[in-house]
Amino acid sequence: MVPGASPPRIRSARLEDLPCLARLLADSFYDPEDWPGFFYPLLTFGIQTDLRQRLQYQSQTCRCLTAILSSPPWSGELAGSVEISRRLSWPWQVFPKTYAYVANLAVGRFCRRRGIASHLLKACEAISLDWQIYDLYLHVMADNRGALRLYQGLGFKIIAMTSTAFPWGQGRPERLLMYKKLKHI
Ligand SMILES: CC(C)(COP(=O)(O)OP(=O)(O)OC[C@H]1O[C@@H](n2cnc3c(N)ncnc32)[C@H](O)[C@@H]1OP(=O)(O)O)[C@@H](O)C(=O)NCCC(=O)NCCS
Repeated sequence: MVPGASPPRIRSARLEDLPCLARLLADSFYDPEDWPGFFYPLLTFGIQTDLRQRLQYQSQTCRCLTAILSSPPWSGELAGSVEISRRLSWPWQVFPKTYAYVANLAVGRFCRRRGIASHLLKACEAISLDWQIYDLYLHVMADNRGALRLYQGLGFKIIAMTSTAFPWGQGRPERLLMYKKLKHI
């Protein structure tokens, strides 16, 4: 059966998920060619340490979700993850006073294009509504066409573009800020 044929089960990440989550994030956001030999385990170790702290402090302001496959022979396999946090804007920022921010969305290469990211993002929207926060933001790199299409398909709009002001960042793709209004009050 195709991985992810039935909708995944979405649940909060647990400490025992850490090794899997770290591998998923390393594999999704870094090119192993840039981290040869023993540097790659160092990278996953760094991600795991960082994630451990966030998981330990998961609370009413920050959640890390995982998507677990439910179709045999992949049942129980961790296929994706995402984080959502509740944030307060600085007085000079254009954001609403309280807003929700989505980050670190990743789906395993073996089960992409099966709707898993969409399920994770829908779960983030449900959490945000539960927090009674109706303004959802995220960032995406302009050259990440797949992610951009995913977000636009779910109703996110591009509201700002930032390119780096530093000389070493010149030539890098722009970072897009995307926004979705969950409910008009
Ligand atoms: C981006 C990512 C999370 C998408 O996960 P996914 O589970 O494959 O996404 P979905 O199956 O829910 O995609 C839903 C829709 O989004 C669009 N989409 C998703 N990935 C796409 C791709 N690579 N190319 C074009 N469109 C894409 C399509 O419209 C797709 O619908 P379709 O498959 O019916 O055409 C995944 O590719 C990933 O982990 N990439 C590496 C990490 C990353 O870039 N994260 C986002 C950081 S902002």
